[in-house]
Amino acid sequence: MSEKEFIPASYTTLKEEGTVAYSSPSNIALVKYWGKRENQIPANPSISFTLAACTTKTSVQYKKKDKKSDEFSFDLLFEGEPKEEFKPKINTFLKRIEAYLPFLKEYHFVINTSNSFPHSSGIASSASGMSALALCFMEMERSFSESISDEDFNRKVSFLSRLGSGSACRSIEGPLVQWGETASIEGSSNLFGIKYPYAVHEVFSNFHDTILLVDKGEKQVSSTVGHELMHGHPFATQRFDQAHSNLEKLKSVLSKGDLKTFISIVESEALTLHAMMMTSNPYFILMKPNTLSIINEIWKFRQESNTHVCFTLDAGANVHVLYPEYEKDIVFPFIKEKLVPFCQNGQYICDRIGLGAKKL
Ligand code: DP6
Repeated sequence: MSEKEFIPASYTTLKEEGTVAYSSPSNIALVKYWGKRENQIPANPSISFTLAACTTKTSVQYKKKDKKSDEFSFDLLFEGEPKEEFKPKINTFLKRIEAYLPFLKEYHFVINTSNSFPHSSGIASSASGMSALALCFMEMERSFSESISDEDFNRKVSFLSRLGSGSACRSIEGPLVQWGETASIEGSSNLFGIKYPYAVHEVFSNFHDTILLVDKGEKQVSSTVGHELMHGHPFATQRFDQAHSNLEKLKSVLSKGDLKTFISIVESEALTLHAMMMTSNPYFILMKPNTLSIINEIWKFRQESNTHVCFTLDAGANVHVLYPEYEKDIVFPFIKEKLVPFCQNGQYICDRIGLGAKKL
Protein backbone atom coordinates (compact mmCIF):
# COMPACT_ATOMS: atom_id res chain seq x y z
CA MET A 1 0.00 0.00 0.00
CA SER A 2 1.22 3.52 -0.70
CA GLU A 3 0.39 6.88 0.86
CA LYS A 4 -1.61 7.80 -2.25
CA GLU A 5 -4.28 5.26 -1.41
CA PHE A 6 -5.30 7.39 1.56
CA ILE A 7 -6.25 10.34 -0.63
CA PRO A 8 -10.06 10.30 -0.94
CA ALA A 9 -11.62 10.34 -4.41
CA SER A 10 -14.48 12.76 -3.66
CA TYR A 11 -17.10 13.50 -1.05
CA THR A 12 -20.84 13.11 -1.46
CA THR A 13 -21.73 16.10 0.74
CA LEU A 14 -19.83 18.37 3.09
CA LYS A 15 -22.04 18.96 6.12
CA GLU A 16 -22.57 22.53 7.32
CA GLU A 17 -21.84 21.77 10.95
CA GLY A 18 -21.71 19.06 13.56
CA THR A 19 -19.82 17.54 16.50
CA VAL A 20 -17.77 14.36 16.76
CA ALA A 21 -16.09 12.93 19.84
CA TYR A 22 -13.77 10.04 20.70
CA SER A 23 -11.87 8.62 23.62
CA SER A 24 -8.53 7.11 22.69
CA PRO A 25 -6.00 5.32 24.91
CA SER A 26 -2.28 5.52 25.42
CA ASN A 27 -0.14 2.44 24.73
CA ILE A 28 3.04 0.94 26.10
CA ALA A 29 5.59 -0.50 23.69
CA LEU A 30 7.11 -3.94 24.32
CA VAL A 31 9.48 -3.56 21.36
CA LYS A 32 10.34 0.14 21.14
CA TYR A 33 10.12 2.57 18.25
CA TRP A 34 13.24 4.73 18.49
CA GLY A 35 14.55 6.39 15.34
CA LYS A 36 12.65 7.52 12.28
CA ARG A 37 13.02 8.61 8.70
CA GLU A 38 11.25 11.40 6.81
CA ASN A 39 7.43 11.51 6.99
CA GLN A 40 7.24 9.67 10.27
CA ILE A 41 8.51 6.38 8.84
CA PRO A 42 9.88 4.25 11.69
CA ALA A 43 13.49 3.11 11.56
CA ASN A 44 12.44 -0.19 13.14
CA PRO A 45 9.26 -2.14 13.83
CA SER A 46 7.54 -1.97 17.23
CA ILE A 47 4.68 -3.59 19.12
CA SER A 48 2.62 -2.36 22.07
CA PHE A 49 -0.05 -3.22 24.57
CA THR A 50 -2.96 -0.84 24.20
CA LEU A 51 -3.89 0.60 27.61
CA ALA A 52 -7.35 1.00 29.07
CA ALA A 53 -7.29 3.70 31.76
CA CYS A 54 -4.91 6.34 30.37
CA THR A 55 -7.03 8.02 27.74
CA THR A 56 -7.65 11.32 26.00
CA LYS A 57 -11.19 12.48 25.29
CA THR A 58 -11.53 14.85 22.38
CA SER A 59 -14.52 16.48 20.80
CA VAL A 60 -14.43 18.50 17.60
CA GLN A 61 -17.20 20.94 16.79
CA TYR A 62 -17.05 21.93 13.16
CA LYS A 63 -18.71 24.69 11.22
CA LYS A 64 -18.27 25.42 7.54
CA LYS A 65 -16.56 28.74 6.82
CA ASP A 66 -18.21 31.16 4.41
CA LYS A 67 -15.21 30.76 2.15
CA LYS A 68 -12.37 28.22 2.15
CA SER A 69 -9.27 30.08 3.36
CA ASP A 70 -5.54 29.38 3.07
CA GLU A 71 -5.15 28.86 6.80
CA PHE A 72 -6.39 26.25 9.21
CA SER A 73 -8.83 27.72 11.65
CA PHE A 74 -9.39 26.28 15.11
CA ASP A 75 -9.79 27.07 18.79
CA LEU A 76 -8.19 24.72 21.25
CA LEU A 77 -9.49 24.03 24.73
CA PHE A 78 -7.61 21.77 27.14
CA GLU A 79 -9.70 20.73 30.13
CA GLY A 80 -12.13 23.52 29.27
CA GLU A 81 -9.52 26.32 29.10
CA PRO A 82 -7.91 27.83 25.98
CA LYS A 83 -4.40 26.40 25.52
CA GLU A 84 -2.32 28.41 23.07
CA GLU A 85 0.87 26.32 23.67
CA PHE A 86 -0.72 23.24 22.07
CA LYS A 87 -1.74 25.03 18.89
CA PRO A 88 1.55 24.85 16.90
CA LYS A 89 1.71 21.06 17.27
CA ILE A 90 -1.87 20.74 16.03
CA ASN A 91 -1.21 23.13 13.19
CA THR A 92 1.75 20.96 12.09
CA PHE A 93 -0.47 17.89 12.33
CA LEU A 94 -3.17 19.54 10.19
CA LYS A 95 -0.57 20.47 7.56
CA ARG A 96 0.70 16.88 7.43
CA ILE A 97 -2.76 15.33 7.05
CA GLU A 98 -4.38 17.89 4.77
CA ALA A 99 -3.58 15.97 1.57
CA TYR A 100 -5.53 13.00 2.98
CA LEU A 101 -8.44 15.01 4.42
CA PRO A 102 -8.87 17.80 1.87
CA PHE A 103 -11.90 19.31 3.65
CA LEU A 104 -9.89 20.62 6.62
CA LYS A 105 -9.52 24.22 5.40
CA GLU A 106 -13.27 24.45 4.69
CA TYR A 107 -14.09 24.46 8.40
CA HIS A 108 -13.57 26.24 11.66
CA PHE A 109 -13.05 23.77 14.52
CA VAL A 110 -13.48 24.00 18.25
CA ILE A 111 -11.29 21.22 19.65
CA ASN A 112 -11.97 20.33 23.27
CA THR A 113 -9.61 17.83 24.83
CA SER A 114 -8.89 16.36 28.26
CA ASN A 115 -6.81 13.51 29.68
CA SER A 116 -7.86 10.88 32.23
CA PHE A 117 -4.38 10.92 33.74
CA PRO A 118 -3.10 13.80 35.86
CA HIS A 119 -1.85 16.84 34.00
CA SER A 120 1.97 16.89 33.71
CA SER A 121 2.29 13.40 35.18
CA GLY A 122 5.13 12.71 32.79
CA ILE A 123 2.79 10.34 30.94
CA ALA A 124 3.11 11.01 27.23
CA SER A 125 -0.21 12.28 25.95
CA SER A 126 0.83 12.43 22.31
CA ALA A 127 -0.30 8.86 21.50
CA SER A 128 -3.75 9.21 23.03
CA GLY A 129 -4.13 12.87 22.05
CA MET A 130 -3.14 12.59 18.40
CA SER A 131 -5.14 9.40 17.85
CA ALA A 132 -8.26 10.91 19.44
CA LEU A 133 -7.99 13.92 17.13
CA ALA A 134 -7.37 11.77 14.05
CA LEU A 135 -10.45 9.71 14.96
CA CYS A 136 -12.60 12.84 15.15
CA PHE A 137 -11.47 14.05 11.72
CA MET A 138 -11.97 10.59 10.22
CA GLU A 139 -15.46 10.46 11.70
CA MET A 140 -16.17 13.70 9.84
CA GLU A 141 -14.86 12.18 6.62
CA ARG A 142 -17.00 9.08 7.17
CA SER A 143 -20.11 11.27 7.36
CA PHE A 144 -19.18 13.00 4.08
CA SER A 145 -18.56 9.82 2.07
CA GLU A 146 -19.97 6.54 0.86
CA SER A 147 -19.73 3.87 3.51
CA ILE A 148 -16.25 2.77 4.54
CA SER A 149 -15.50 -0.57 6.23
CA ASP A 150 -14.34 -0.56 9.86
CA GLU A 151 -11.06 -2.07 8.72
CA ASP A 152 -10.41 0.71 6.19
CA PHE A 153 -11.53 3.32 8.71
CA ASN A 154 -9.13 2.06 11.39
CA ARG A 155 -6.29 1.77 8.93
CA LYS A 156 -6.66 5.35 7.75
CA VAL A 157 -7.03 6.65 11.34
CA SER A 158 -3.81 4.86 12.24
CA PHE A 159 -2.11 6.29 9.14
CA LEU A 160 -3.21 9.83 10.07
CA SER A 161 -2.33 9.40 13.75
CA ARG A 162 1.20 8.35 12.79
CA LEU A 163 1.65 11.72 11.11
CA GLY A 164 0.82 13.39 14.45
CA SER A 165 3.02 11.15 16.58
CA GLY A 166 4.50 7.81 15.57
CA SER A 167 3.37 5.84 18.60
CA ALA A 168 -0.18 7.23 18.21
CA CYS A 169 -0.73 4.88 15.26
CA ARG A 170 -0.71 2.00 17.77
CA SER A 171 -3.59 3.38 19.90
CA ILE A 172 -6.68 2.82 17.74
CA GLU A 173 -7.21 -0.89 18.36
CA GLY A 174 -6.11 -3.43 20.94
CA PRO A 175 -5.04 -5.45 22.76
CA LEU A 176 -1.73 -5.68 20.84
CA VAL A 177 -0.77 -3.50 17.90
CA GLN A 178 2.26 -3.85 15.67
CA TRP A 179 3.71 -1.07 13.49
CA GLY A 180 6.58 -1.13 11.00
CA GLU A 181 7.44 -3.49 8.19
CA THR A 182 9.11 -6.68 9.33
CA ALA A 183 9.50 -10.07 7.65
CA SER A 184 8.02 -12.14 10.49
CA ILE A 185 4.65 -10.33 10.55
CA GLU A 186 2.42 -10.60 7.53
CA GLY A 187 0.66 -7.37 6.61
CA SER A 188 3.04 -5.23 8.70
CA SER A 189 3.47 -1.72 7.34
CA ASN A 190 5.53 1.41 7.97
CA LEU A 191 2.44 3.49 7.21
CA PHE A 192 0.04 2.30 9.92
CA GLY A 193 -0.31 -0.03 12.87
CA ILE A 194 -2.10 -3.37 12.54
CA LYS A 195 -3.89 -5.45 15.12
CA TYR A 196 -1.39 -8.17 15.99
CA PRO A 197 -2.46 -10.95 13.57
CA TYR A 198 -1.32 -14.12 15.37
CA ALA A 199 -2.48 -16.19 18.32
CA VAL A 200 -2.04 -14.66 21.77
CA HIS A 201 -2.07 -16.86 24.88
CA GLU A 202 -4.74 -16.04 27.44
CA VAL A 203 -2.14 -15.18 30.09
CA PHE A 204 -1.76 -11.87 28.24
CA SER A 205 -5.45 -11.01 28.44
CA ASN A 206 -6.07 -8.66 31.35
CA PHE A 207 -2.33 -8.07 31.79
CA HIS A 208 -1.74 -5.29 34.33
CA ASP A 209 0.38 -2.18 33.91
CA THR A 210 0.82 -0.19 37.11
CA ILE A 211 2.49 3.06 36.10
CA LEU A 212 4.78 4.48 38.74
CA LEU A 213 5.13 8.25 38.47
CA VAL A 214 8.75 8.73 39.45
CA ASP A 215 9.28 12.16 38.00
CA LYS A 216 6.50 14.40 36.80
CA GLY A 217 8.70 17.21 35.56
CA GLU A 218 9.18 18.26 31.97
CA LYS A 219 11.63 15.94 30.17
CA GLN A 220 14.99 17.52 29.30
CA VAL A 221 15.01 15.83 25.89
CA SER A 222 11.83 15.25 23.86
CA SER A 223 11.17 12.00 22.00
CA THR A 224 11.37 13.90 18.73
CA VAL A 225 14.94 15.00 19.51
CA GLY A 226 15.78 11.48 20.75
CA HIS A 227 14.59 9.93 17.48
CA GLU A 228 16.78 12.42 15.57
CA LEU A 229 19.84 11.32 17.52
CA MET A 230 19.54 7.81 16.06
CA HIS A 231 20.80 9.26 12.75
CA GLY A 232 24.49 8.47 12.70
CA HIS A 233 24.24 6.74 16.08
CA PRO A 234 27.17 4.30 16.44
CA PHE A 235 24.86 1.40 17.40
CA ALA A 236 21.89 2.23 15.14
CA THR A 237 22.24 -0.71 12.73
CA GLN A 238 22.59 -3.28 15.51
CA ARG A 239 19.65 -1.75 17.40
CA PHE A 240 17.34 -1.79 14.38
CA ASP A 241 18.29 -5.41 13.62
CA GLN A 242 17.63 -6.33 17.25
CA ALA A 243 14.09 -4.91 17.09
CA HIS A 244 13.27 -7.10 14.05
CA SER A 245 14.68 -10.12 15.81
CA ASN A 246 12.82 -9.41 19.07
CA LEU A 247 9.54 -9.15 17.17
CA GLU A 248 10.20 -12.49 15.57
CA LYS A 249 11.01 -14.06 18.95
CA LEU A 250 7.88 -12.59 20.49
CA LYS A 251 5.71 -14.52 18.07
CA SER A 252 6.15 -17.85 19.83
CA VAL A 253 6.38 -16.16 23.25
CA LEU A 254 2.96 -14.59 22.74
CA SER A 255 1.34 -17.72 21.39
CA LYS A 256 2.76 -20.06 24.04
CA GLY A 257 2.45 -17.67 26.96
CA ASP A 258 6.18 -18.01 27.66
CA LEU A 259 6.43 -15.37 30.39
CA LYS A 260 10.10 -16.01 31.11
CA THR A 261 11.21 -15.09 27.59
CA PHE A 262 8.61 -12.31 27.49
CA ILE A 263 10.29 -10.71 30.51
CA SER A 264 13.77 -10.98 29.04
CA ILE A 265 12.69 -9.36 25.76
CA VAL A 266 10.61 -6.59 27.34
CA GLU A 267 13.16 -5.57 29.96
CA SER A 268 16.00 -5.73 27.46
CA GLU A 269 14.03 -3.49 25.07
CA ALA A 270 13.47 -0.92 27.83
CA LEU A 271 17.12 -0.86 28.84
CA THR A 272 18.28 -0.79 25.21
CA LEU A 273 16.08 2.25 24.57
CA HIS A 274 17.77 4.06 27.44
CA ALA A 275 21.18 2.74 26.39
CA MET A 276 20.61 4.39 23.00
CA MET A 277 20.00 7.70 24.79
CA MET A 278 23.12 7.30 26.90
CA THR A 279 25.28 6.52 23.86
CA SER A 280 23.99 9.15 21.44
CA ASN A 281 25.80 12.38 20.69
CA PRO A 282 24.92 14.43 22.68
CA TYR A 283 24.19 11.78 25.32
CA PHE A 284 21.48 12.12 27.94
CA ILE A 285 19.86 10.20 30.78
CA LEU A 286 16.11 10.22 31.41
CA MET A 287 16.08 7.67 34.23
CA LYS A 288 16.27 8.99 37.79
CA PRO A 289 17.83 7.33 40.83
CA ASN A 290 14.37 6.14 41.88
CA THR A 291 13.87 4.49 38.48
CA LEU A 292 16.90 2.29 39.22
CA SER A 293 15.79 1.61 42.79
CA ILE A 294 12.44 0.38 41.48
CA ILE A 295 14.10 -1.86 38.87
CA ASN A 296 16.32 -3.42 41.54
CA GLU A 297 13.37 -3.99 43.86
CA ILE A 298 11.45 -5.69 41.02
CA TRP A 299 14.37 -8.01 40.26
CA LYS A 300 14.77 -8.91 43.91
CA PHE A 301 11.06 -9.55 44.43
CA ARG A 302 10.74 -11.58 41.23
CA GLN A 303 13.48 -13.91 42.39
CA GLU A 304 12.05 -14.30 45.90
CA SER A 305 8.41 -14.67 44.90
CA ASN A 306 8.79 -16.70 41.73
CA THR A 307 6.29 -14.39 40.03
CA HIS A 308 6.46 -12.88 36.55
CA VAL A 309 6.43 -9.21 37.37
CA CYS A 310 8.62 -7.14 35.04
CA PHE A 311 9.15 -3.54 34.01
CA THR A 312 9.32 -1.43 30.94
CA LEU A 313 10.13 2.24 30.44
CA ASP A 314 9.11 4.83 27.91
CA ALA A 315 11.18 7.90 27.14
CA GLY A 316 11.18 9.15 30.71
CA ALA A 317 11.79 8.25 34.34
CA ASN A 318 8.42 6.59 35.03
CA VAL A 319 8.27 2.82 35.34
CA HIS A 320 5.55 0.60 33.87
CA VAL A 321 5.20 -2.50 36.05
CA LEU A 322 3.72 -5.39 34.04
CA TYR A 323 2.22 -8.58 35.52
CA PRO A 324 -0.45 -11.15 34.73
CA GLU A 325 -3.91 -11.02 36.28
CA TYR A 326 -3.43 -14.29 38.19
CA GLU A 327 -0.48 -12.84 40.14
CA LYS A 328 -2.08 -9.53 41.06
CA ASP A 329 -2.85 -10.52 44.67
CA ILE A 330 0.85 -11.07 45.31
CA VAL A 331 2.33 -8.38 43.07
CA PHE A 332 0.07 -5.42 43.83
CA PRO A 333 0.71 -5.45 47.61
CA PHE A 334 4.45 -5.56 46.81
CA ILE A 335 4.08 -2.55 44.50
CA LYS A 336 2.22 -0.60 47.19
CA GLU A 337 4.63 -1.43 49.93
CA LYS A 338 8.02 -1.40 48.19
CA LEU A 339 7.71 0.60 44.98
CA VAL A 340 5.20 3.39 45.61
CA PRO A 341 7.56 5.02 48.18
CA PHE A 342 9.86 5.80 45.20
CA CYS A 343 7.07 7.69 43.36
CA GLN A 344 6.79 11.45 43.39
CA ASN A 345 4.09 12.28 45.96
CA GLY A 346 3.30 8.55 46.10
CA GLN A 347 1.49 8.80 42.74
CA TYR A 348 0.80 5.83 40.49
CA ILE A 349 -1.86 4.76 37.96
CA CYS A 350 -3.46 1.32 37.80
CA ASP A 351 -3.87 0.47 34.15
CA ARG A 352 -4.25 -2.73 32.18
CA ILE A 353 -4.34 -3.95 28.62
CA GLY A 354 -7.23 -2.43 26.65
CA LEU A 355 -9.16 -2.78 23.44
CA GLY A 356 -8.69 0.59 21.78
CA ALA A 357 -10.54 3.80 21.03
CA LYS A 358 -14.25 4.41 21.59
CA LYS A 359 -16.71 6.72 19.91
CA LEU A 360 -18.45 8.98 22.43
C1 DP6 B 1 10.02 5.67 23.62
O1 DP6 B 1 5.73 8.50 19.21
O2 DP6 B 1 6.44 10.09 21.03
O3 DP6 B 1 7.66 5.82 23.58
O4 DP6 B 1 6.83 10.18 16.45
O5 DP6 B 1 8.28 11.96 17.39
O6 DP6 B 1 5.90 11.78 18.15
P1 DP6 B 1 7.13 11.05 17.64
O7 DP6 B 1 7.63 10.11 18.82
P2 DP6 B 1 6.82 9.25 19.87
O8 DP6 B 1 7.97 8.22 20.33
C2 DP6 B 1 7.69 7.23 21.25
C3 DP6 B 1 8.90 6.54 21.63
C4 DP6 B 1 8.77 5.55 22.78
C5 DP6 B 1 8.72 4.11 22.26
C6 DP6 B 1 7.44 3.64 21.66
O9 DP6 B 1 6.34 4.07 22.08
O10 DP6 B 1 7.52 2.74 20.81
